Amino acid sequence: MASFALIAVPAVLLFLCGRGADSSDPHIVTSYPNITGDLLTCNLTDSMLPISGHQWLKGSKVIHEDEDSSQITTHNITGVNADTSGQYTCKFLTSPEVYAVIDITVPPNVVAYKKAEHGNEGDTGVLTCKSNSFPNVEEWTWYMVSEDGSQPIVNGTERYLIKSSGNKTELRIHHLDIEKDQGEYICNGSNIHGSNGATVALRVRSRLAALWPFLGIVAEVLILVTIIFIYEKRRKPDDVPEDDDSGSAPLKSNAGANNDTVRQRNSS
Ligand SMILES: *[C@@H]1O[C@H](CO)[C@@H](O)[C@H](O)[C@H]1NC(C)=O
Ligand SMILES: *[C@@H]1O[C@H](CO)[C@@H](O)[C@H](O)[C@H]1NC(C)=O
Ligand SMILES: *[C@@H]1O[C@H](CO)[C@@H](O)[C@H](O)[C@H]1NC(C)=O
Ligand SMILES: *[C@@H]1O[C@H](CO)[C@@H](O)[C@H](O)[C@H]1NC(C)=O
Ligand SMILES: *[C@@H]1O[C@H](CO)[C@@H](O)[C@H](O)[C@H]1NC(C)=O
Repeated sequence: MASFALIAVPAVLLFLCGRGADSSDPHIVTSYPNITGDLLTCNLTDSMLPISGHQWLKGSKVIHEDEDSSQITTHNITGVNADTSGQYTCKFLTSPEVYAVIDITVPPNVVAYKKAEHGNEGDTGVLTCKSNSFPNVEEWTWYMVSEDGSQPIVNGTERYLIKSSGNKTELRIHHLDIEKDQGEYICNGSNIHGSNGATVALRVRSRLAALWPFLGIVAEVLILVTIIFIYEKRRKPDDVPEDDDSGSAPLKSNAGANNDTVRQRNSS
C-alpha cells in the first residue's frame, strides 16, 4: 500500500483519506495544503487505469466536471465557512470509477427564523432556530434570559416542548403567560467543532389587547351616535319656525311624488 501524505490539518478540518471505492488497488491521497488554503486536492496513485476526466461533488450535487486525464485534480472552495462546509467528493472517471471524500467541517452556524415572535396570551408560542453548516448540530439547548443569567429550559417541564433535528430546533411554550414568558430566549447548537447561538425575542399580547381594535370601533360608533342624537335634539326647536317658512316646498315635492305613483299606476 502507498504511504499516506502527512498533512498539517487546520483544527476545523477532518479528512477521510480516500480509498478507491470500487477497487482496492488504486488509491487517492486527499489533501488540503495549508499554504494554498482553499484548495482541495485529490491525487490518484498506484493506478494504471486510463482517466477520462474528473468530477467534484458537494453532497450529491456535481459542482465541477472536466475531461482532463491528469492524476491530480483540485477544487478551490474559496474559504472555509458555513456556506462552503459540506461533504466533497472527488471522482476520477476511470473504469471502474475511483473516488474519495473530503469533509469540510465547521462549528454550527445558528440563526433564528425570526428575531422576534409574537403570541397571544393563552396560545402556544413557537420559537425556531436552524443551522445550515456541516456537520449537523449534535445538541440543541434553549435558554431563557433573565436578570440572574440564562436559565436552561428542560424539555417536558412546565409548559415547554422542544423538538430538534440535525439542522433545526423548535421551542413550544403552551398557554403563554405575559408575566412569565415574555422576554428573550437563546437557542444554542453545538457539534464537535464548537457551539453557536442566536437570540429570539418573544412578545406576548394580552387577550384584551387583541380586542382593542374592535373595542375602538365600538367606542367610535357609540360616540358618533351620541353626537348625532344630541345634535338632532338641539336642532329640533330651531327647525319648527323654519318649517313654517318653507313648509310648502317639501309639500310640493311630496305631491309630485304622489302624482308620479298615481301616473305609474294608471299606465300599468
Ligand atoms: C501525488 O502522489 C504521487 C505518488 O505518491 C507523488 O509522487 C506526487 O508528488 C503527488 N503529487 C502531489 C501534487 O501531491
Ligand atoms: C481560490 O479562489 C480565490 C478567490 O477566487 C482566490 O483568491 C485564491 O487565490 C484561489 N486559491 C487558489 C489556491 O487558487
Ligand atoms: C422532548 O420531549 C418530547 C415528549 O416528551 C419528545 O417527543 C421530544 O423528542 C423531546 N425533544 C428532545 C429534543 O429531546
Ligand atoms: C434539514 O435537514 C433535512 C433533512 O436532512 C433537509 O430536508 C432540509 O432541507 C434541511 N434544512 C436545511 C435548512 O438545511
Ligand atoms: C452554548 O452552550 C455551550 C455549552 O453550554 C457554551 O459553552 C457556549 O458558550 C454556548 N454558546 C452560546 C453562543 O451561547
